[in-house]
Amino acid sequence: MPEFDASAYGRSIADIYDETVHDLPTDAAVEQLHRLAGGGPVLEFGIGTGRLALPLAARGLTVAGVDGSPDMVAALRAKPGGDRVPVAVGDFASARVEGSFALVVLAFNTIFALPSQEAQIDCFVNAAAHLRPGGRFVVETWVPDPAAFRSDRTDLRLLALSDDVVTVEAARLAPAEQMMYTTKVRMTGDGLRLLPANHRYAWPAELDLMARLAGMEREHRWADWTGAPFTDDSRAHVTIYRLPGEV
Ligand SMILES: C[S@@+](CC[C@H](N)C(=O)[O-])C[C@H]1O[C@@H](n2cnc3c(N)ncnc32)[C@H](O)[C@@H]1O
Repeated sequence: MPEFDASAYGRSIADIYDETVHDLPTDAAVEQLHRLAGGGPVLEFGIGTGRLALPLAARGLTVAGVDGSPDMVAALRAKPGGDRVPVAVGDFASARVEGSFALVVLAFNTIFALPSQEAQIDCFVNAAAHLRPGGRFVVETWVPDPAAFRSDRTDLRLLALSDDVVTVEAARLAPAEQMMYTTKVRMTGDGLRLLPANHRYAWPAELDLMARLAGMEREHRWADWTGAPFTDDSRAHVTIYRLPGEV
């Protein structure tokens, strides 16, 4: 397997990233994160172009970030208020940021961008190291669903369809290594863009164990940012882990 490069994802997508995420429930996420922070400082792992961080900062919270992609950070910096959010460029499994936070956030499936179980455990440990006593680590990601794949373990899904853009995702599952290899194909009047992203997936219970290894306990697991119950049919989760102690 090639060595993990935390800047690779951003290099392929940074200039169009914001166009690809306007359907996400950003307002609900910001509302919930603002509530969970309780007025305290927030650190976002994989801060990207600031989809969540900038609205949180605009609400008066102190926000910092870590991102592996200089291209994504440049897009953040170019936005109003983007130059006031300190960002460390590095791998969020190991990068350290000055400060002690009420909330560490890892949204939009990005825990699975780390290529191994070991790296994901390191990320939980790193999140805990940045939290105050009683602080929270929020992870948003999908629930693995191998049954959705064909018998050859491939899948082709339509992700977006409008007059201006069609996006499909080709995926291949490698269950023995818990990897899903994907490339999105985004088609617009300007042509085709290939957007590769590989995911080392994990079931919610494995993430819970990683949290315990890092000294945290699960406080909530929701199906979405509104706090809807997580059920047998849930295909994604927002999970809140907490360090012992009072904030
Ligand atoms: C899917 S984007 C999410 C951006 C933002 N959190 C959002 O919700 O819109 C994932 C981001 O995480 C960054 N990233 C992925 N793996 C990383 C790693 N190991 N260390 C640091 N940043 C990483 C990418 O560069 C990208 O900016």
